[in-house]
Amino acid sequence: MTDYRLTLFHLRSLKSLRGLRLPAAMANALRFLLAAFLFVYASANTQIKVTDNPADKLVAVINTNRTAHKSSSLDDNAGLACIALQYIKAYQGDCSAVGGPNAKKPADTEFAETFAPNCGVEVSSLSPITGRFLLCQPNYIHAPEAFSMLVDSNKSLEILYNKNHTEVGAAVTGTDGGSPYFWCVLFSNGKPNSSFVFEDGVAKISKPGCFSGANDVCSRANDLSQPGHLWLYVAAAFIAMGYIFGL
Ligand SMILES: *[C@@H]1O[C@H](CO)[C@@H](O)[C@H](O)[C@H]1NC(C)=O
Ligand SMILES: *[C@@H]1O[C@H](CO)[C@@H](O)[C@H](O)[C@H]1NC(C)=O
Ligand SMILES: *[C@@H]1O[C@H](CO)[C@@H](O)[C@H](O)[C@H]1NC(C)=O
Ligand SMILES: *[C@@H]1O[C@H](CO)[C@@H](O)[C@H](O)[C@H]1NC(C)=O
Repeated sequence: MTDYRLTLFHLRSLKSLRGLRLPAAMANALRFLLAAFLFVYASANTQIKVTDNPADKLVAVINTNRTAHKSSSLDDNAGLACIALQYIKAYQGDCSAVGGPNAKKPADTEFAETFAPNCGVEVSSLSPITGRFLLCQPNYIHAPEAFSMLVDSNKSLEILYNKNHTEVGAAVTGTDGGSPYFWCVLFSNGKPNSSFVFEDGVAKISKPGCFSGANDVCSRANDLSQPGHLWLYVAAAFIAMGYIFGL
């Protein structure tokens, strides 16, 4: 919002530049350039909020699928999601422990002893886990694909549509920021506002890895910078330059 106002202010101040005999064509071109930046900046910003965390995207897919099936939309709990990230870390990158004959599961005691403290989640606010999905993939896939791989049987559909869930938390991580990629979804029947609460009320962001519910921009499984957005700015600059030279 502030950025938006700031740019409008700049647009207005260009009018006074024209008073200083800046050629009208150039002032128009500059104004267009700023408008182009404003547009691209605004759309880039919206994109960050909506899409730039694969764990949030997975929760969105889960809730869309649940509501299409007349199940309730689940609260995206950042504390639970951070615990899902610790749950992944307990596998120490060992894909073979996720499914199949060597499948392992972290001990229940780990939640109170390790996961909650690592997240700064109050142990007294831990609530029952009513379902879990876990996936390990050699390649990075996007949230909708991860969803179809997580929910691929009648048993997993039962977990997905379970009416006892009230909240959900999702996490994704790559070992050392690369392959293999782990996805974890935990469901709980706790009260959304009073379960898995952070001790100081603020999500403790734990890297590497991404978790849902914290309004945290997180690219892929490690916290990469975002070259995609830089491209948008470059493109805007080129479009604007095209206009200037076309004048
Ligand atoms: C919900 O997910 C299941 C499992 O992936 C899929 O078969 C079904 O078509 C999805 N429903 C909707 C409405 O997308
Ligand atoms: C899954 O559920 C559907 C409908 O409830 C049923 O028709 C199908 O046979 C089930 N599949 C398996 C593999 O159990
Ligand atoms: C929901 O919770 C109740 C009470 O704990 C339990 O008896 C029931 O089996 C649960 N339902 C499902 C679908 O898990
Ligand atoms: C939970 O917290 C949100 C935001 O703080 C609030 O809007 C909502 O009413 C609360 N829900 C309950 C059940 O207390």
